[in-house]
Amino acid sequence: MSTGDKTISCTSCHNLYLNGAGNVSFSVGINGSLAKRNTPTVFNSGFSFRQFWDGRALTLEEQVEAPFLNSQEMGASWDEIITTLMNSSDYRERFKQVYGKNFITPDQVRDAISTFERTLVTTNSRFDKWLKGDEGALSHRQKEGYQLFKSYGCIKCHQGVNVGGNMFERLGVFREYYLENNTDNTKRSQDLGRFAITKNEETLYEFKVPSLRNIALTSPYLHDGSIKKLRNVIDIMATYQLGLKLPEAEIEKIEDFLSTLTGEPPTILR
Ligand code: HEC
Ligand code: HEC
Repeated sequence: MSTGDKTISCTSCHNLYLNGAGNVSFSVGINGSLAKRNTPTVFNSGFSFRQFWDGRALTLEEQVEAPFLNSQEMGASWDEIITTLMNSSDYRERFKQVYGKNFITPDQVRDAISTFERTLVTTNSRFDKWLKGDEGALSHRQKEGYQLFKSYGCIKCHQGVNVGGNMFERLGVFREYYLENNTDNTKRSQDLGRFAITKNEETLYEFKVPSLRNIALTSPYLHDGSIKKLRNVIDIMATYQLGLKLPEAEIEKIEDFLSTLTGEPPTILR
């Protein structure tokens, strides 16, 4: 059994100053081990219908436990976590103020962290302002980009308050993404997505459709962090998810539209 060495915190991988994620394909956990998937942003994650790329956690409360206990992320145990917190008079006092008990429980820790995470929302993006009626918040090109986003059907998958985060879809609907992009033969490039949990063939290569909020700032992209440039992801999406080859000029307009999904930083950073 590995034990936490107190070198890794949530923010080691979800850097709040790097938009709640990081700028590397795979974050580094305890003892230098690399995460198996790209770190998603924790901003706006409370609005998503499930947590993780494969949605294996239903709620933020359920999600919290995973990185703590994961031997490659933080490698701790609840006993260690509770002992560490109880040894700090500051934490003891604050937990008592909120939960009214002389002891700290895993449930309180789950609740505290997820309540904090739910404050990490980015509001007032140009797109939000436009939706609320501020015509000038989007440029003409950005409005054209939004029209393309709708008419080509990106919106079939990236929709709702998070412009994503509310369904699972296969990576590679019209063409086989993995067969055509088998550049390196690592396990990561063969990520089976939801199949690994469900064992149901129909869920092979299925991932949670990511939120596109702040997407201009959260490179690298996709669950394996393999794509650096947003325009390349748009091209991949058109090709594999929609079976379309988009002209460069349209990709640029969609990219311009996506940049309007960048919101104001969460309150704690202001
Ligand atoms: C070693 C790096 C690392 C650490 C430390 C870490 N995470 Fe993560 N986090 C990840 C990776 C990688 C994923 C995606 C894993 C997957 O989908 O299989 C993730 C996923 C998440 C998600 C789901 C987001 C979404 O859109 O699906 C949340 C929420 C989250 N982490 C919160 C936390 C919290 C809270 C902590 C501290 C208790 C934490 N993480 C610690 C790397 C890390
Ligand atoms: C059939 C559903 C579907 C359609 C249609 C679709 N997407 Fe996606 N999109 C996904 C899925 C699933 C992923 C995650 C794939 C992965 O990481 O393996 C994704 C990922 C992305 C990402 C990267 C997000 C990140 O955080 O890494 C962007 C950007 C994106 N899509 C934009 C678009 C655009 C623009 C269109 C239209 C041209 C589009 N998508 C059409 C399902 C879809």
